Amino acid sequence: MEKTSIHGMWSSRMAFILAATGSAVGLGNIWRFPYMTSDNGGGAFVLVYLGCIALVGLPILMSEILLGRHGRRSPVNALTDLVRELGASKGWISIGWIGMVAGVLILSFYSVVGGWTLHYSWLYISQLLGGNGITDPGATFTGLLSSPGELTLWHAVFMVLTLGVVALGVEKGLERAVRFLMPALFVLLLTLVIYGATTGHLGEAAAFLFKPDWSKISGRTFLDAMGQAFFTLSLGMCTMMTYGAYLPKGVSIPQVGVTVALADTGVALMAGLAIFPIVISFGLDPQGGGPGLIFTSLPHAFNAMPFGIVYGLLFFALLSVAAWTSSISLMEPATAYLVERAGLGRRAAAAVVGAVCWVAGLATVLSFNVWASVRVPEHLRVIGGKNIMDMIEFVSNNLMLPLGGLLIALFTGWVVKQTLLKDELGSLSPAALSLWRWLVRLVAPLLVLAVLITPFLLD
Ligand code: PFF
Ligand code: NA
Repeated sequence: MEKTSIHGMWSSRMAFILAATGSAVGLGNIWRFPYMTSDNGGGAFVLVYLGCIALVGLPILMSEILLGRHGRRSPVNALTDLVRELGASKGWISIGWIGMVAGVLILSFYSVVGGWTLHYSWLYISQLLGGNGITDPGATFTGLLSSPGELTLWHAVFMVLTLGVVALGVEKGLERAVRFLMPALFVLLLTLVIYGATTGHLGEAAAFLFKPDWSKISGRTFLDAMGQAFFTLSLGMCTMMTYGAYLPKGVSIPQVGVTVALADTGVALMAGLAIFPIVISFGLDPQGGGPGLIFTSLPHAFNAMPFGIVYGLLFFALLSVAAWTSSISLMEPATAYLVERAGLGRRAAAAVVGAVCWVAGLATVLSFNVWASVRVPEHLRVIGGKNIMDMIEFVSNNLMLPLGGLLIALFTGWVVKQTLLKDELGSLSPAALSLWRWLVRLVAPLLVLAVLITPFLLD
């Protein structure tokens, strides 16, 4: 009998692809990728980012899925079993702990931004019902950020939605929802790219995205690009490991890994090609857009387009859904762990994780208003000037995820037995298997290490 997970199993290969793509495609692609590109000066950042996806992201994505599928339990317990089986050091179990802590930190701010997308959906609904609408996008966005009450409310709504699905178990509803919502998001993005082309600025936008300006590059660029690569593929915090635990044995891991990585990268690049023409055509600066970039630029376009209000509603509603399918995956590892470890029911476990993340998210809420002046002293390298939310993001995305990924790569590459790897990656040709193995053993760890260290030497 094939070993299965007590939490349930994906019903098919397609179900896993949808769930893993649902996890990968989210705010990271449509909100974070464009503004990280904007803040880091464009093309050079994108190029480094694509390199990180191919050389580090994809090999580690495959590693996570295979470790999860072999263990069939939540990350800490799967690693505990594996370490025992291999007679390896218990220290490797820390990968699971780093992952769970990173998950809580990421979900804390992810849910606040998810709340922004709900708020914007609501603004378009009320405009359709005859309300005022977003006449001055800049003012609407600053208004939202300056109101702790409103931010907290939408953060709570988003967290309850997330927790609700996790409490029900991931197979139900979610599989079906992603099946048509992800394609819908894709079509909407494509329409926006086409709209962007009509502004006549598509060429400039493409140049900004793809023509590297090496003078803009610093040690920070590499750290940001590596962090973004991990964040966007949901790597380094054992989310993909957890989803792998529910993956049926016959499915080819390389195949699903490549599919998920391509879909995620495609959506990010499309988001860039949709947003920057609009930014340029409305006379906004493509550089230094910050976290408000899509919330202040896209409403301009929606105001100018025919049926723009309906379009705005659809866009932010689908972005909420994309964020939702990702936040569910952020909550899953810790929830599964509590079920296994504390004997909690799924609902209680999800409620506990949700409550912890919601409270932690209040720090992000306050970082935009009451605590806005709390900043890292300017003279410090790399992190100088960051506010509380920036710091939470920096520590989780740029440090913890790459560190988690580094350990996962080393563990898979050097500790796990080759027979196990062959068994899990059976569909690879011997040449491809050894290419993957060397990426995981040497290339990925060295690149991640270099990226973690250089900013502190160069900047
Ligand atoms: N990959 C998601 C995004 O791009 O929005 C964010 C994310 C989800 C990161 C799950 C990490 C994770 F475990
Ligand atoms: Na992503």
